[in-house]
Amino acid sequence: QSSGVDPAKLAAAQAAVALVEDGMKLGLGTGSTAAVMVRELAARVAAEGLKLRCAATSQATADLATSLGLRIESLDEIGWLDMTIDGADEVDPDLHLIKGGGAAHLREKVVAAASDRMVVVADPGKVVEILGAFPLPVEVLAFGFETTRKLIRRALDELELGGHDVMQRLRGSDPVITDEGNLILDLHLGCIPDAPALARALAAIPGVVEHGLFLGMCDLAIIGRKDGSVIQLA
Ligand code: A5P
Repeated sequence: QSSGVDPAKLAAAQAAVALVEDGMKLGLGTGSTAAVMVRELAARVAAEGLKLRCAATSQATADLATSLGLRIESLDEIGWLDMTIDGADEVDPDLHLIKGGGAAHLREKVVAAASDRMVVVADPGKVVEILGAFPLPVEVLAFGFETTRKLIRRALDELELGGHDVMQRLRGSDPVITDEGNLILDLHLGCIPDAPALARALAAIPGVVEHGLFLGMCDLAIIGRKDGSVIQLA
């Protein structure tokens, strides 16, 4: 079942799934690493008969989990989660994250915020000294989209991050629409010297629904390596 899977992602996923205990309430993340984790989790549930309650961070993850026999409930049905296991696009030494490469960071953040613990699973390519090489995803309302883009550019100027591309995310020639029906802007910043200041500035713009900076949310990052070993950053 695991053949063809990136061994680094598999190692991280297996180490995270090993943290799951019978009776836990779990948040299931989105992306290719989280998908490996969901498969490993489903295999453990099938083998050990674990009784879990699971909420998904995206429709894609809900569909995958359901297809593997895991029952997905809404976050509000479960109420509060013991642990969320999710991927990330970048992880810095303070465990600050960029997420949203899969356009799911809004639900991911809501689910992570409702969890006692957020565990990130990633491969070594995600570990950075400073966030920002990965374009920062920002979910914005369709209403007033161009106005919101202008306000984001203005906020970037004020933070001396001006002059970078603020690109609408497309799939082919169509706008990417999130699970919540919003649009995505990707901020090509290269480097984010002050992530808390940027997070505050973006959150203050009314048309911004949620940005992909996860600051102070991740409790443990499990970085898988190609040889099957893992490094834990906490
Ligand atoms: C989804 O919106 C993202 O936050 C993902 O968690 C992130 O893109 C990681 O995905 P991969 O594991 O596929 O790199």
